[in-house]
Amino acid sequence: MVTVLTLRQLAAEPELLAAAVPGDLRVVTSLREQWPASLVAAATSLAELRARASSRLRDASSMMLTAVGLEQATSSVVALHRARRVAASASSIVDLCCGIGSDLRELSAAGVRAIGVDRDETHAWCARYNSGVPVAVADVRDVRLASVEAVYVDPARRSGDRRGGSEPPLSWCQALPVAQVAVKAAPGLDMALVAAGWEVEFVAEGRDLKEACLWSPAWATAGRRATVLPAGDSLVADPSTPPAPIRPPGPYVVDPSPAVTRAGAVADLAAMLDGWQIDKQIAFLCTDSPVSTPFGRTLEVAASLPFGVKQLTAELRRLDVGAVDFRRRGLAGDVEDLRRRVKLTGSRQAVVLLTRVDDKPWTLVCFPITPSTVTFEAE
Ligand SMILES: C[S@@+](CC[C@H](N)C(=O)[O-])C[C@H]1O[C@@H](n2cnc3c(N)ncnc32)[C@H](O)[C@@H]1O
Repeated sequence: MVTVLTLRQLAAEPELLAAAVPGDLRVVTSLREQWPASLVAAATSLAELRARASSRLRDASSMMLTAVGLEQATSSVVALHRARRVAASASSIVDLCCGIGSDLRELSAAGVRAIGVDRDETHAWCARYNSGVPVAVADVRDVRLASVEAVYVDPARRSGDRRGGSEPPLSWCQALPVAQVAVKAAPGLDMALVAAGWEVEFVAEGRDLKEACLWSPAWATAGRRATVLPAGDSLVADPSTPPAPIRPPGPYVVDPSPAVTRAGAVADLAAMLDGWQIDKQIAFLCTDSPVSTPFGRTLEVAASLPFGVKQLTAELRRLDVGAVDFRRRGLAGDVEDLRRRVKLTGSRQAVVLLTRVDDKPWTLVCFPITPSTVTFEAE
């Protein structure tokens, strides 16, 4: 475990930090001629963490990180989205449980006067370094919030618990004596844990569902919403939207973003795209024309057939398919076993949806659409 003392020493040695690279023994040997071996080891570990962070955190190469702090940190794209929403209605905020400060620095960059709190002194030190804003080392339960305008909490998740178990618990976060509160939670959180009047925003980065952000009633603008980043498009689940029509598969299929399915906004997406569901239990949507939407991936249906290994093999051969991305929704079975049994020989790449139609096991052999085939831009 890296200590504050070591991080301070590293911060005072910019030449060492610039020269340290992960996994190069010759560099390590040469650095040891100039710096103590323990400091070179710490610099090399930090270089590894920075390299690992670079796909998620902006300016990762100049951040101070711990392995645990990095694992828990919000990606910069998600943090920036939240920070912009906060900045639209608050000028100051306390980031309780600020970790190494990924959210904190985006709040500050968005123009919100922010301060951080974390009980882990190494995380607090990193957060101060990374964000340039004041950070207190304290247990958040001891913080007086009497005159605070807004609070953001990203509690530590209990390991392996995707349904909302955290420290401090969600119930504590939702009972804070501040009107404007945002709480980051696991995307699989148990919706029964969400207090009345709070908005749940399911946030995806590309196709990856990252988190559920809970917005207190003073901040809520919907019950549930799906947001897809980096574009930031957002789809509200409107309880008055009628269920999507159910019809047999059509020429195009839209695989909704997991943020849309989790938010319960499939019917809203269907209404937006003039689409329909192929089965009332299944979230795949079909459309008559190719659509471009941030809320799902559109595929062109080349074959639609009842599930069966022989029939599927014949279709894949006819369509000259040599590689398949299998997606299963509503149909059990071993995909790797199926991949072996269909014996692919062709040259094209297909997406095969294993699903249900009218409650029968069904297969759709699809190809991604090219932008030139899109005729309709979803709003
Ligand atoms: C998920 S991390 C925060 C990550 C941060 N939002 C970021 O993007 O870098 C949770 C943090 O909560 C802190 N924490 C957990 N319980 C706490 C408590 N009772 N008081 C203060 N900090 C706490 C942990 O030390 C940890 O740094």
